[in-house]
Amino acid sequence: MLWLLYLALCRLLTDTRADPGALLRLGMDLMNHEVQSAMDESHILEKMAAEAGKQQPGVKPIKGITDLKVKDVLVPVITLNFVPEVGIYQCVSTGMTITGKSFMGGYMEIIVVLNITATNRLLQDEETGLPMFKSEGCEVILVSVKTNLPSNMLPKVVNKFLDSTLHKVLPGMMCPAIDAVLVYVNKKWANLSALMSVGQVGTVKYVLSSIPVTTASYIQVNLNPVVQQQEGNTIILSDAGEELRLPKDYIEGSSQLLLSVTSLTAELTLLKKSFNVKIRDKKIGQLPPQTTKTLAGFIPEVAHAYHKSKHLATKIKINKPPKVTMKTGKSQLHLHGTLEMSATRRKGKVLSSLFLLEIHFNLNIQYSVHGDRLQMVTSLNRLLSLSRKSSSIGAFNEQGLTGFITDYLQEAYVPVVNDVLQVGFPLPDFLGMNYNRTELDIVENGLVLNLKSE
Ligand SMILES: *[C@@H]1O[C@H](CO)[C@@H](O)[C@H](O)[C@H]1NC(C)=O
Ligand SMILES: *[C@@H]1O[C@H](CO)[C@@H](O)[C@H](O)[C@H]1NC(C)=O
Ligand SMILES: *[C@@H]1O[C@H](CO)[C@@H](O)[C@H](O)[C@H]1NC(C)=O
Repeated sequence: MLWLLYLALCRLLTDTRADPGALLRLGMDLMNHEVQSAMDESHILEKMAAEAGKQQPGVKPIKGITDLKVKDVLVPVITLNFVPEVGIYQCVSTGMTITGKSFMGGYMEIIVVLNITATNRLLQDEETGLPMFKSEGCEVILVSVKTNLPSNMLPKVVNKFLDSTLHKVLPGMMCPAIDAVLVYVNKKWANLSALMSVGQVGTVKYVLSSIPVTTASYIQVNLNPVVQQQEGNTIILSDAGEELRLPKDYIEGSSQLLLSVTSLTAELTLLKKSFNVKIRDKKIGQLPPQTTKTLAGFIPEVAHAYHKSKHLATKIKINKPPKVTMKTGKSQLHLHGTLEMSATRRKGKVLSSLFLLEIHFNLNIQYSVHGDRLQMVTSLNRLLSLSRKSSSIGAFNEQGLTGFITDYLQEAYVPVVNDVLQVGFPLPDFLGMNYNRTELDIVENGLVLNLKSE
């Protein structure tokens, strides 16, 4: 029965619509790493030892034992488990040696091994809107107690000590340790909603779009990337009308970030203006000279208008928002715009338009991660359509230019696009994530970043 429920829950969660946006799935690998590093950073071990050594207020000194000291707190071993719909069950196994003088004057040593357990409930902080863990039901379980006193000797004193002292005092001593660790984990979410710049053109920030969800094998945080232009306008993420979901075949315990195709499209929209260019170079890569003479080889009408060869100037203007598409293993960038070629007339210096073409072409995108940025490099896939909007040299068959324009886009324009894309898109900054070892997968309507703890 239980596994049926589990399957149903899994199906429900993997089918959750989170489009448009981004989806963060935190597996046990990352959570273990986070809690362990929070443990180290919080110096909780030292604090526990110091706390344990203090005289606890409200606790009567133990009759018959003097000079009580706590030493050798063992390095805690932390075990975490996901609790569906709640959060994380945390068990800290540790131990310590308690020394003192018994009333008979003998040296007394008690070695206790204990487990501190609590449930860390996953919530959304109302003030900051960030994920937050809150511990509940902290308990201290004595795993073993060993003493140098013979078992037949002073059982009363030892038992009393255990009952009145350890059982009562330890939770007060040890449970704040769990909270202290959580404070550190919670702090690591602080930068998630920070504004991150995309060059000079705008900013991106990630906000939670719903309360994080815990399943038996991961925590899922649904994020909404807010993409804003420098002037302050927010780019509305268009709903692709399709589900954003992680493929089901990820390794248990692993962690992923899924960026939707719509969020990438929104970020590229920030760069739209930078994709408009004017190019006046005579020699571009492997292209033939950019002159009216070269052009006349494709359109005879140019030869009639220009008896002497003139330099060409080309203007490309993108007039629709860029659009990213993603199919398993393949991603493309679609650009719609105009391409205008001009040349100076006779001896004049003023450029005059030869023709204006409407073009639609697509580029293949290759993704990579550098530092905390998603990088894209493109290459021309295909010129998909070409139509003449205006011409000062009379009607001509623009299809004759297909090869010429295709080569032009690849050699002259794609490098411009790649240059603009170098700015990179900021990835969510959470839990001190280092994206260094991230592996990428292109899936249906999204890009999966397989996150690795260091
Ligand atoms: C204490 O914690 C350890 C590690 O999680 C576990 O193996 C052990 O069973 C626990 N002992 C008790 C008495 O709860
Ligand atoms: C947040 O960002 C600032 C500035 O980059 C950095 O110094 C700080 O360590 C970050 N905090 C966390 C919790 O990652
Ligand atoms: C990995 O990350 C560290 C720290 O963020 C950085 O110093 C290092 O250069 C990165 N390595 C690579 C290969 O990017």
